[in-house]
Amino acid sequence: MISFDGCTKTFLLSGKNYSYCMYINRAGLLQHLYWGKKIGAADAAFLVAAHGLPASPNPDDYNKDMATDGMPSECGSFGRGDFRPATVIVRREDGAAMSRFRYVSHKIVKGALHLQGMPCARKADETLILTLKDDFSDIELDLNYSVSEDADILVRNTAVRNAGKDAAEIAKAFSFCTELPDTRGTWSALRLAGSWARERTPVVTPLAEGTLRIESARGYSSHQMNPFLAVLSEDCGEESGECYGFNLLYSGSFAITADVSHNKSIRVQGGINDFLFGWLLQGGETFATPQAALYYSAEGLGGMSRAYHDFFREYIIEPKRVYARRPVVINNWEATYFDFDNEKLFSIIDEAAKLGMDTFVLDDGWFGKRDGDASGLGDWFVNERKLKGGLKAVIGHCKEKGLKFGLWFEPEMVSEDSELYRAHPDWAIGKAGAEPCRGRNQLVLDFTRKEVVNYIFETVSKILRENEISYVKWDKNRDITENYTANLPADRQGEFWHRYTLGFYGLAERLTKAFPNVFFEGCAGGGGRFDGGALYYFPQIWTSDDTDGLERTKIQWGTSVCYPVSSMSCHVSACPNHQTQRITPFATRGAVASLGATGYELDLTKLSEEEKEQVREQIKNYKLIDELVLRGDLYRLADPFKGNYFCEMLVSKDKSKAYLVGERFRGDPCDHDRVLKLRGLDEGKTYTIRELNVTASGAALMGAGLFCPRLPDCGSWVWHIEEVQAERKLYKAIETGR
Ligand code: GLA
Repeated sequence: MISFDGCTKTFLLSGKNYSYCMYINRAGLLQHLYWGKKIGAADAAFLVAAHGLPASPNPDDYNKDMATDGMPSECGSFGRGDFRPATVIVRREDGAAMSRFRYVSHKIVKGALHLQGMPCARKADETLILTLKDDFSDIELDLNYSVSEDADILVRNTAVRNAGKDAAEIAKAFSFCTELPDTRGTWSALRLAGSWARERTPVVTPLAEGTLRIESARGYSSHQMNPFLAVLSEDCGEESGECYGFNLLYSGSFAITADVSHNKSIRVQGGINDFLFGWLLQGGETFATPQAALYYSAEGLGGMSRAYHDFFREYIIEPKRVYARRPVVINNWEATYFDFDNEKLFSIIDEAAKLGMDTFVLDDGWFGKRDGDASGLGDWFVNERKLKGGLKAVIGHCKEKGLKFGLWFEPEMVSEDSELYRAHPDWAIGKAGAEPCRGRNQLVLDFTRKEVVNYIFETVSKILRENEISYVKWDKNRDITENYTANLPADRQGEFWHRYTLGFYGLAERLTKAFPNVFFEGCAGGGGRFDGGALYYFPQIWTSDDTDGLERTKIQWGTSVCYPVSSMSCHVSACPNHQTQRITPFATRGAVASLGATGYELDLTKLSEEEKEQVREQIKNYKLIDELVLRGDLYRLADPFKGNYFCEMLVSKDKSKAYLVGERFRGDPCDHDRVLKLRGLDEGKTYTIRELNVTASGAALMGAGLFCPRLPDCGSWVWHIEEVQAERKLYKAIETGR
């Protein structure tokens, strides 16, 4: 619901549980008033009186110089008295960049805002478009806000318009700016930091005067920093306390900043990384920034996660795919790496079929001259020396065994030792005459160039057209360097990063549209591009190259802070684990993988009979609970970063079913009596836990809890929890295998 009160000039935006309020103060500036628990339109006058300009110590100053420095603003400006970080900076032809944006008009429209060439929320109930104009130039801004009654997420972005004739250069254009005023210096910030094989570790640090900045300058969202920041109140825990979330629906270089100013308010804003950014805006042109998904609630981190999960499932991920049953895949990467032939693959396929898997995914090494990671990228035609009879032979074998077929690509990359590079050395990012910076022995294609993207679209399409392929794993294995393209003049190199990202989105858009029956999985050297922009095209993303049964609990826990478990590809791999060398029980690897889109990534022919039986059971179990993975609410019970246990549970929306997975890291003799209080159940319902043969009310299971099982190192447990009336259905399903 969006309403405008002409008397107080107040905008009130309300979603499921929150309200967001701002008003046009008497200086014509758009002032932030409130963001918190839901309130009614009748409170607008109170908010203006208590928090608006009249309540300011210097109410008459706002139209004067230096007065906006303390004003909670919806858009920070530069050079006219607001000394906190600006939201938008536009440099005009004469070099001037100061601005003060004042209200011009607004409209409230039905539905969402579609962004051309960029991912965006697929729907919304209403959108507020607020137009501001600079006092000193012809630059106008549209501040866009979309709300939906069933969501706790407010979707925002900014559009910068040059309403004049002279060209101007955007030096910074963030997607959103908001202010959290009443913080008394006690708030902290949560970011998801990491590295390859250690993606999305939650890191909480206090906020203090000055600017906290998280960013990626790697050309994509990155392993190192996810485009997400949460601001937490002092009492924010897993299930209660106020927190605000800021998630950029963007896969390129980004920045999010939280600036605590002299009056202790926090200005939070973010968007395309402004470091060396520049964008030429000709007269009449408009530049749209990526969208951001903002969240508020008092339900702690768990409440925030569940709201983001619902948002990504309902508003971002392709509707046709999001709740559709995911295939249990067998991927050959860790089984064979580059060293395979028909026989090796066929033997894995044969086993996969016997064990009940759905799709065989052929990973890196099937194309060009690709026997290692130093050659072949860009040559998207099959290596018949390695695969006799080409892909058709492998696909034919899969079909014979009842499996579907998937294929790995790394569309944005090129090896210097490739036919593509020899034909078009200038298509790789770099600067002629300067030795290129190599990563994993490869270069990145210049996706700012249309002809490069077109070529890749054609070659990948040819493979997808000519073969029965139902699944694509789209990888990206290095950072972007040089950040230079001969395609743009010297004074427009600042456009490079964003244009690259638009090139990636353009290809993803074209391929997913051209091949609607292909399931596209995202990947970037593990989980290096796991963001809301990528989820628009890839319903599932490879969470991490680290599949170790212990480390994965942390990676999946951190990823779940804002992304739904159904978007995490989670594979069972071999032991000793290829990344950590750790040995964990097969059952544990399966249990942890079942908290996401489950698959396998190991040489099935090397499994013992006992392990094969476990695989059969795991798949059977998975097909029984995958509905909870796709649609359930996640409750995180035991934090693997903080103690000896990991535990998460998925609860159906109607609270009739739940699935719980736990792991005990060390067989510690002294912590076996840890009590686990379940969450998310209905207090008034009676439940059974199949594995324990326990029957109790939701109130007892959540209030008194149960003891964690005593288990040796990295031992795991799985509980199926079912409302008593529905119990029969579950047992019937177990008996019949469905
Ligand atoms: C990346 C991916 C792996 C695998 C390899 C292939 O590291 O994350 O899953 O596909 O590339 O080179």
